[in-house]
Amino acid sequence: KGIKIFSPATIANLVCGFDVIGLALDFPKDEIYLYKTNNPGIHIHRIYKSSLPNDPMKNSAFAALQALLKKYQKIQINEEEKIGFKIELIKNIRPGSGIGSSAASAAGVVYGANVLLGNPFNTIQLIRFAMEGERIASGIAHADNVAPAIMGGVTLIRSYNPLDITKLHSPNQLWVSIIHPQIEVKTSDAREILKQKILMTDAIKQWGNVGALVAGLYREDYELISRSLEDVIVEPIRAILIPYFYELQIKCKEIGALGGGISGSGPSVFMLSKGNYTAKKVIEVMNQVYSPLQVDYKTYISPI
Ligand code: HSE
Repeated sequence: KGIKIFSPATIANLVCGFDVIGLALDFPKDEIYLYKTNNPGIHIHRIYKSSLPNDPMKNSAFAALQALLKKYQKIQINEEEKIGFKIELIKNIRPGSGIGSSAASAAGVVYGANVLLGNPFNTIQLIRFAMEGERIASGIAHADNVAPAIMGGVTLIRSYNPLDITKLHSPNQLWVSIIHPQIEVKTSDAREILKQKILMTDAIKQWGNVGALVAGLYREDYELISRSLEDVIVEPIRAILIPYFYELQIKCKEIGALGGGISGSGPSVFMLSKGNYTAKKVIEVMNQVYSPLQVDYKTYISPI
């Protein structure tokens, strides 16, 4: 028995929503073929378009599916039944890009396995399993990529413990433009440089922005969304990891982008726009800023 799954790229840390707000893209997406077998265990048969580790201990899909299988074995009705999975991954989302490549693999396999097993798990359980994939990939079991990958749209993590996640409204004309400079930024390094304590004045600004961003999404108030896309806590520290980050941001806003920031822990940078006309112009500006540099890059555009 097999299933084909499309699992989307995602943007975590929606500017002011560090670790809590993420969104799913329409494009790019991974293609996953998952088969339920009678051979116990998980077998990563092939990974196409990437040199990702086949080594199960380093692979997010393996870790996520293993967490699911472990739990399933505890609730399994027919204890005699032997269950295993075979995975084939077509990685259209480049690993290390900052647009949720490891999350897409992890979220996709647990979603598919749940269907193949007759849906024994709810969404929150699936997100928990997928978070184990993130733990393997980045050292941190964060949920702001896997939650939107599984739930779709824009998601807010109100609490990690207990896990409490809400899907937010996606405004009709919201588009995202992304540039992925081919430089390496490890999530674990990008977390290590962050401060563990923040100023009360910064916290006040940040939670004002988060609340207003949520209101802006629901009211489809693009002006309010734009004013709320400000991060005074994480971005000022991480921006040094990305060449020409502020130049990109300023120039994209000049031609009408609502605002944007670092996608996940980078190196990708994203900009939100109202409508695809502006989103395309943003891509042109991203090209203008990056084409003279000695850095390879790739751009993407997607509705939300
Ligand atoms: N919220 C996580 C971080 C996302 O910024 O560390 C990593 O993709």
